[in-house]
This record gives sequence, structure tokens and C-alpha cells, in this order.
Amino acid sequence: MLAGEKLGRAAVPSGASTGKYEALELRDGGKPWLGKGVSQAIGNVNTTIAQALIGQDLDQAGLDKNLIELDGTENKTKLGANAILAVSLAFAWAMSRAQNLALYQYIGQLYGNDQFIIPRPTINIFNGGKHGDWATDIQEYMVIPATSLNWADRLRLGAEVFHHLGKILPEKGYSINVGNEGGFAPAVKSNQEALELIVQAVNQAGYKLGEQVSLGFDAAASEFYNEETKQYELKRDGQSLSSEEMTGWVEQLANQYPVELLEDMLAQDDWAGWTRLTAKLGDHYQVVGDDLLVTNTGRIKQAIDQKTCNSLLVKLNQIGTLTETLAAMKMAQGAGWSNVVSHRSGETEDITIAHLAVGTGCGWIKTGSVSRGERTAKYNELTRIAERVEASR
Ligand code: PGA
Ligand code: ZN
Repeated sequence: MLAGEKLGRAAVPSGASTGKYEALELRDGGKPWLGKGVSQAIGNVNTTIAQALIGQDLDQAGLDKNLIELDGTENKTKLGANAILAVSLAFAWAMSRAQNLALYQYIGQLYGNDQFIIPRPTINIFNGGKHGDWATDIQEYMVIPATSLNWADRLRLGAEVFHHLGKILPEKGYSINVGNEGGFAPAVKSNQEALELIVQAVNQAGYKLGEQVSLGFDAAASEFYNEETKQYELKRDGQSLSSEEMTGWVEQLANQYPVELLEDMLAQDDWAGWTRLTAKLGDHYQVVGDDLLVTNTGRIKQAIDQKTCNSLLVKLNQIGTLTETLAAMKMAQGAGWSNVVSHRSGETEDITIAHLAVGTGCGWIKTGSVSRGERTAKYNELTRIAERVEASR
């Protein structure tokens, strides 16, 4: 993408445990690439989108509006959210360069923010669910460094705890192969055992749990919710729970450890359950909606009205343009919620989300373990941004 003779480039990610209400990721189907090809999406960028937009004098909001109109469908099913987002983000990169700004500064201008905060990472060191061959039912176990630590120390903590866990696992006879988001993924005996191993790793690394580091989970509960029986099927623990029982299970788990963040502990259509969970736990925990909200202002508004969460998980490709993503974040922020900018399980080396987190000053990023290049790409970019932001203070 060119703007003012400056080049912008972006790659879009893909999810394994996608929410039912996400914008469409256009794939070719058929045999090549096991049906996952994106020739049609690329074709849409190079023909329909290019023909309509090249030579026009647009700003970010204008470009994104044109893209949305050009597609004309509710869920971007005509052109594909992958095609649309690639253009939206490449344009943002090109525009930031044309204006001689870092991307986070450009995003800051769009969002009306000049408080560039280096986010707290929620570092996913143990992968289960669809990301880890169902090693556990819970998809993600995260360690969250305390606000008192600076960026470099936060990252160091994540790396040290991860590698201590990597020493403990073989001692127990477990494998150290990693899952989609770079966390270890051995089939442990229960959901709780993973947690106990992480606590051991934190201790061995010499950190104080509850002081220097807290914990977070993403259950991705839609993946083990049985819509027919309305039961949450925790296979690793050999139990099947109603929505109310599941809330009790979450509460018990969270109370036993210094937990800060609870993402998608219930399924994407269990609105009443979410309201119950937030009423019970919302004062003490960050209750984050991912598949429930899909970065969509329509669903976020409903969630604000029904008090189902107090935090939004932000995924650009769930909605498909930068402008709509920023609108979702503004809406969440306006309701007093936090925003957690997030990667996908299927990532690329693209580093845009590092800038999105800093530019909006949201204070949070979820981008996997300190392992696998597509995860460390974001951490490395945040290290560069942190140096720049700190130097400008
Ligand atoms: P996904 O998972 O990219 O597979 O949807 C990431 C998450 O749930 O946060
Ligand atoms: Zn999630």
C-alpha cells in the first residue's frame, strides 16, 4: 500500500478457536492448501479494492468507510475481513510513514491519546484446548508481571518463569513441546495441575506470586460448551457443569491463587451466565470478553447494558478495520472497562498490535509466550517502542 509515496505493509492473523460472530475470514476451500488458500482475498485486494480506491485522497476513517461500503455486508462476507484488514493496516503503516510518525503515534492521533503506555503483557506459558491438543480444557494459562516492574523486567520475568517451567515438566515426565501460542502443552492430569506446575515455576524462578506476578486464564469456554445439553464439559477433570456450576468452579479456582484476569470462562451465547459471573467476580477480577464480544460495538453495547464483563479483548481481525477496532475500544473505555489488545493463535510476524496497545494507551497486551518468532516479534517491537517512549520523556 502506498500513501504519499510511502510504503505500508501488513499481514493479518487467523484464529483456531474463533468466535461464532467474528467477521468472515475468506478462504478458497477445495484441495490446495487444504482449503485454506487466500487467492480470492488477495484477488479482492488487487482488483475490487485497488480499482475503487487507488488515487483517492482519503484519511484512515475515509478509507475504512469505503472498504466497509465496498463490501456492503454485515460480516464482511463479500470481500473477506482478511482482505479488508490487510488494506486498512497497510494504509495505517503507510500514512504513519508519510506523516513521519511511529505507528503508535499515528494510532494515538486517531484515538485521541498521547499517553503512550507500555502495556503489561499477559504471558501465556501453558497451552491447552484447541491450541494445545486438549492438554487441558482451559486454553491459556497466563503469568502477568506486576505494574511495578518496567518493561524489560516484565519480559525477563515471563522468559524466566517459562524456562523454569521447561525444567520442571521433564522432571515430572512431561513433554516440553509447545502449543500454538508458544506455551508448553503436555497432557497433565487435571486443569489444576497445570496451575500448580506454573506456581512451582514462579517459585523456582524466585518471584513472589501475588506481588511481582499474578495469573490469568482464557478458558475459551465456547470450545467445550455443549450447546445441546447446555453443559460445560471439563473432560480433563471428568466433569460436566451447568453454567451456574461453572461459575462456581471458576470462583473456586480464582480464589485459590493470585488471579487477576478471567477471559471467556463462559460460552459466547451464555449471556445470563456472564452477567452472573460478572456480578460475582467483577469487583475483584478483570472479566474479559473475547468470543462473546468479537470486537463488535453491537455486542459490546449489549454487554455493557447487561453487565456481562468489565474488559474487552481486542482482535483487529474479528471486526476487520482499524477504525472499527478503535471504536470498539473507545466504547469499552467509555464504560469504564479495560482493553486487552490481543494476537491470534495463528499469527504472523506482523507487529501492528504492539503499536495498537501503546497508541491507545490501554495498558494491556496478550501476545503469547516468550517463544516462537511470531510471538517474540511483538515483544521485540515493544522493547524498541519502550526505548523510544522512555527516551522521549
Ligand atoms: P484464537 O485464540 O486466536 O484461536 O481465537 C486466541 C484467544 O482466544 O485469545
Ligand atoms: Zn480468548
